[in-house]
Amino acid sequence: MSSDNFTVSDCERCPVLCESRSRIVNGSGPADADVQFVGEAPGATEDERGEPFVGRSGDVLDDALLAAGMDRETVRVSNCVRCRPPDNRDPTREELANCREYLEREIAAVDAEVVVTLGKVPSEHLLGRDVAVTKEAGDVVDVRIGGEPRRVLVCVHPAATLYDRSQADTFEEALERAADLAGVESGGSGQSRLGEF
Ligand code: URA
Repeated sequence: MSSDNFTVSDCERCPVLCESRSRIVNGSGPADADVQFVGEAPGATEDERGEPFVGRSGDVLDDALLAAGMDRETVRVSNCVRCRPPDNRDPTREELANCREYLEREIAAVDAEVVVTLGKVPSEHLLGRDVAVTKEAGDVVDVRIGGEPRRVLVCVHPAATLYDRSQADTFEEALERAADLAGVESGGSGQSRLGEF
């Protein structure tokens, strides 16, 4: 653990992930951001570079952020688990539970106006129930995380927009909602490249 209480430098809690990871991928972005995104787990590019959402999904996220008047340097980006699962499988319940303490500490420290869950795994992990993500995307739910009240905005995973173009609108609208909740002036570049995928 480093000088803050949520950056993990060494962890052996998940034997399988210790084998599959090249490195631990901590959250990125300001530790006092108004918007915090929570994804599922690092993929191959993230594992290689040691940063969350820097692969193709990261490009989708960056474009939608700009369209919603935000940019990557101003938001916190985290994952439910910090180590790449083998073959990009979903993290198990046990792995999610093992990493939960780090995520809770990070969410508490950042204390964002809104926590945006990117996809089914983080939505169910933080809401503690089944979530029909496509149906509930854009919904704002008040929950307790680590004992503290938090505002969670449910969102589809950016990768979903790569395979289903109708999800691109859902994704962009959810990010606009996040910007509103965080009091970000709308506008930005106003340009979106999501339709290109
Ligand atoms: N990259 C991440 O960092 N997390 C995901 O959930 C997917 C891609």
